Amino acid sequence: MSTAVIVGAQWGDEGKGKIIDYLAKKADFVVRGQGGNNAGHTVVVGNEKYALHLIPSGVLYDDTINIIGNGVVIDPKGFFEEIDGLKERGVNTDQIFISDRAHVIMPYHLEIDRLSEEMRGEKKIGTTKKGIGPCYMDKVERTGIRVIDLISDGIEEALRERIAFKNILIEKIYGGNPLDADAIISDYKKYAERIKPYVKDTGVMVYEAVQSGKKVLLEGAQGTLLDVDYGTYPYVTSSHPISGGFAIGSGIGPNMINEILGIAKAYTTRVGKGPFVTELFDDTGDSIREKGHEYGTTTGRARRCGWFDAVAVRYSARVNGMTSVALMLLDVLSGFDEIKICTSYKYNNEIITDFPSSLDVLAKCEPVYESIEGWSEDITQAKSFEELPINAQKYVKKIEEIIDVPIKIISVGPKRSQTIMTGEIF
Ligand code: GDP
Ligand code: IMO
Ligand code: MG
Repeated sequence: MSTAVIVGAQWGDEGKGKIIDYLAKKADFVVRGQGGNNAGHTVVVGNEKYALHLIPSGVLYDDTINIIGNGVVIDPKGFFEEIDGLKERGVNTDQIFISDRAHVIMPYHLEIDRLSEEMRGEKKIGTTKKGIGPCYMDKVERTGIRVIDLISDGIEEALRERIAFKNILIEKIYGGNPLDADAIISDYKKYAERIKPYVKDTGVMVYEAVQSGKKVLLEGAQGTLLDVDYGTYPYVTSSHPISGGFAIGSGIGPNMINEILGIAKAYTTRVGKGPFVTELFDDTGDSIREKGHEYGTTTGRARRCGWFDAVAVRYSARVNGMTSVALMLLDVLSGFDEIKICTSYKYNNEIITDFPSSLDVLAKCEPVYESIEGWSEDITQAKSFEELPINAQKYVKKIEEIIDVPIKIISVGPKRSQTIMTGEIF
């Protein structure tokens, strides 16, 4: 059995896409299990850059089977835009399959996402406005439309009923404009026809792949601190981006997963609102943003930047049951005289080492830092741990010691070749 989960250890954008693509070389299957096209996973191959949102990051290998699992929410418009974009660039899209149980994002989800953010005013979450939250709301409320429903005969009636109800909400509660039911039905009937060849009971495919000894990579989107249970609620997404999410979102049980690889940046970033203890508002923060090109893959927003928060990543290691870590974007830290790691938080003169649940507490936590001497060398060509400057080695070792999980991958640039493996994943 060889099944590895790849999860974001922080607030998303840790470089999951790069590592999934890198490991997909050896994988038979790559499976998404939660989230939707709120994700933006960047893969760089040679001089080509791909931004993947809904389509699994194994798509750039001809032989890999790419599954969009039952726990994902699918915007058909976004899905086909991505398919068309990849086809135009000569990428093989024949090995992509969508779960019949996945839920479908509708135009009213997008509209309600937009309007509810507007209504929240100062308390807005800063969502990607892709309709993710409202779609998961319907799923849990039991009024969602699954892919299997979309391609079944009753879809027109089901949609008419839902749109009539959502229009009341949109108009009377949110003060928006009602949506045109006929236009939506016409569009979605076209999507239904076009989506049919992609639809499968993907849970069976994944299960059989694992049972027959195939290598399966489970591709997490977002990050642990955006998990609806474990994240900085309510400034989170509406799914479970942790390893446990795959026991629900992909069709296999938790006992079928044997490696849980957390992807962590060598510093911290966050897009959207919510607490961020190590956030830097000074030149150092700006410098990290510029050197790391820290602008969102999905929305283009500038990412908030700060030092590595080991309290958060240690928490993340625990709630995911991480067996290994990939430390990403280490090259971005070259050139700083001093690099800091937050090892605990100080709250009202008390030292906290467990990530707190209260946003009020988090907002008042001050980072307690340990300083490491920086390095000036360019490390983007380093091929082994030993080739890294001694201070970079010390930094990696220090993080490994504090989070207490082996670092098996060190990334020193966006390309496949800029990846140092220090351990076996699968
Ligand atoms: P994801 O959402 O976790 O897949 O991450 P994103 O793709 O949103 O953001 C990560 C960004 O960092 C992308 O632009 C990657 O190309 C880039 N990247 C990944 N690894 C490295 C690295 O080791 N060094 C540098 N400089 N960039 C990296
Ligand atoms: P990847 O997979 C970073 C954030 C949004 C917002 C919150 C809720 O690329 O790491 P949503 O639209 O999901 O309701 O927004 O979650 N968010 C992400 N931040 N990376 C992502 O995905 C994200 N997906 C959602 O910015 O704060
Ligand atoms: Mg991203």
